[in-house]
Amino acid sequence: MDTDTIRKQLRLVLEKTDFALDDCEVYRGKVRDNYIVGDKRIIVTTDRLSAFDVVLCTLPFKGQVLNQMSEFWFSKTKSIAPNHVIEIPDPNVTVARNCTPIPVEFVVRGYLTGVTTTSIWYSYSRGAREFCGHRLPDGLKKDQKLEMPIVTPSTKAEKGGHDESVSGNEVIKRGLMDRDEFDAVSETSLKLFELGTRIAAQNNIILVDTKYEFGRDEGGEIMLIDEMHTPDSSRFWYKDSYHGLFEKGLEQRRIDKEYVRKWLADQGYLGQGTMPEIPDEVRIEAANRYITAYEQVTGSKLNAVPGDATERIRKNLARRGYI
Ligand SMILES: Nc1ncnc2c1ncn2[C@@H]1O[C@H](COP(=O)(O)OP(=O)(O)OP(=O)(O)O)[C@@H](O)[C@H]1O
Ligand SMILES: [Mg+2]
Repeated sequence: MDTDTIRKQLRLVLEKTDFALDDCEVYRGKVRDNYIVGDKRIIVTTDRLSAFDVVLCTLPFKGQVLNQMSEFWFSKTKSIAPNHVIEIPDPNVTVARNCTPIPVEFVVRGYLTGVTTTSIWYSYSRGAREFCGHRLPDGLKKDQKLEMPIVTPSTKAEKGGHDESVSGNEVIKRGLMDRDEFDAVSETSLKLFELGTRIAAQNNIILVDTKYEFGRDEGGEIMLIDEMHTPDSSRFWYKDSYHGLFEKGLEQRRIDKEYVRKWLADQGYLGQGTMPEIPDEVRIEAANRYITAYEQVTGSKLNAVPGDATERIRKNLARRGYI
């Protein structure tokens, strides 16, 4: 997409929605506005960008990128796992089955990497040889491919709290899931990761790690919810440059949400205190990276609709009888 289109959209970003729906409970997450009507959940993916557990700014077209990238993956993987999608009435909106979330995030990792204190590399580089119940051999280097992808569950903290990486045994001990269910969902997660890896590889992308969320619908069926294989939930590297960079011990070429976070870190902001104002040029570049992520990972052009999204969404929801 050309920079001019992105620049024009800076003034038209979808920051927040406020649709008046009858008998509806509204939940605003950091990125999504959720309207819960009966057994359905109207999920509006806004242009908000979050990191360090706070909303940093908005990025033109980010909501459309995330919503459509999830749509791409949900449709590719529905034979492996049922998912919450009912329909996509607008580029920013998914109407989903409202589920009771399982309070465990299924993180799957294919590589020894990460920066935060909850990451596998952080733990390994400080000498730990076990991570979430998995034994790791000595002598591995940063960004090295693991022998096999592993599931490293993370507990979903209450609002304001911090997520915690735990073993499967711990998940069961805490009564969050029973053994059979945990094993079945872990196996599904690995299959999803394997298919994601295969499709991404066709487009010169490595799916490094990701996070899946599952929930139960009214009938008790377990299905995939939330988002899937997006830059917000996954780490992606370019495949053709992986080996060369790894051998030299250099940083991988990546497409993920690091760009704004890194800009802020370079200004000395790490989530505490007052956030510096993020210049338009940084937001444009970050938006461009999200769009590139969509196009690289899915191998197809993003069908972005410019202009004011609020009215368009209202019309599309009305057209389908939701408002
Ligand atoms: N089909 C579904 N049924 C029930 N809950 C869902 C479904 N899909 C997604 N969710 C939940 O909706 C929320 C999505 O909001 P969003 O992604 O903006 O929040 P977040 O930043 O991930 O987390 P937080 O809720 O802590 O702000 C998540 O809490 C997610 O678990
Ligand atoms: Mg989320």
